Amino acid sequence: MSVQARDLAVEFAYRFDRAPTVSRAPGRVNLIGEHTDYNDGFVMPAALEFATLTAASQRPDRRLRVYSMIMDETREFDLDSPPQAASGDWSDYVIGVALTLEMSGLSLSGADLIVWTDVPIGAGLSSSAALEVSVAHALLAESGLGFDAIEIAKICQRAENDFVGMRCGVMDQYISCCGVAGHALLIDCRSLASRHVAIAPNLRLLIANSRVRHQHAGGEYNLRREACEEGVRLLSRYLGPIEALRDVTSKQLEARRRKLPDLIYRRCRHIVTENARVLEAALALEAGDFAACGQAMNASHVSMRKDFEITCPEVDMLVGLAQTVEGVYGSRMTGGGFGGCTVSLVEASAVDKAAQILTDGYRVATGLDVEIFVCAPSDGAHLIPV
Ligand code: GLA
Repeated sequence: MSVQARDLAVEFAYRFDRAPTVSRAPGRVNLIGEHTDYNDGFVMPAALEFATLTAASQRPDRRLRVYSMIMDETREFDLDSPPQAASGDWSDYVIGVALTLEMSGLSLSGADLIVWTDVPIGAGLSSSAALEVSVAHALLAESGLGFDAIEIAKICQRAENDFVGMRCGVMDQYISCCGVAGHALLIDCRSLASRHVAIAPNLRLLIANSRVRHQHAGGEYNLRREACEEGVRLLSRYLGPIEALRDVTSKQLEARRRKLPDLIYRRCRHIVTENARVLEAALALEAGDFAACGQAMNASHVSMRKDFEITCPEVDMLVGLAQTVEGVYGSRMTGGGFGGCTVSLVEASAVDKAAQILTDGYRVATGLDVEIFVCAPSDGAHLIPV
């Protein structure tokens, strides 16, 4: 079901008896740069046409009342006596963001909210960040406060780290706040500066959802982060005070290879080489050298499979199938890992062929139906007309 802003406004009027504003915040696909964000490194995501919409209207008190059209459930909170901890519910993202905004000194009005999304949930396309950012945007608008995109991205990340308990980096919230239609963003996750990288009109981003999500994904994510921190700790004995793997070159890492446990070495090698690949891929896209960008994407997948060990047979299968199709420049898993989606950079004329090969090949190999999306990069968070 595709819900438009006016459908949300009708639902809002029915439930809350007045007219709302509607904020939109997109999910994302990451072209390249996986697990580099929390290592102060580089990423290159694009905002999707899939988004979360939040309809909102201020209340005279300090209560938040939020109805999810997806879950068909309502939750209520009092900003003056909020829950102290997450409860494992979808509303953790809503109250977590509200409390973190307040802790950052942004004093909110109460509000009635309705949330709806078409970002596939749990598929690695950042449905959580889209919810966080659209709610933050709506709450700030209803409280008469401005939306400083980068600041809000950091606040939403903090809500997820500290309230929800997922130690994610800033990529998903950043692109949901700052995305630009027709472009990917090359983001420096240390300085938080970004550069717009145009996606040429003849290119398509083909996303394939494996529909597989391994249960241990969250725990493994945090373990990867710990391994990177351990790498920094060990390497700083030899390299002097370094803050993050961003500060380590391939040459430096290779010179200390024997000083590191093999597992930590391989985790570090993924991050160090992935940072270099992101920069190469951005330059290649800017120069119109799509084959070079595709090669960097393919190499990224190998590195995620062998060194960082975050892929799984189903996504490896999708990537392998895509890479056989003429007109597909490159293909890799996108997002945190252990299932979810792949992204392929495809010549527009090859999209149908690629979709067919993925659909047939995946069904034969796994018995599963892949879900294919062909996406154009969209804009980051904004109010939409009702
Ligand atoms: C998840 C996290 C991001 C990032 C990716 C992996 O999407 O939320 O911060 O670390 O995984 O690149």
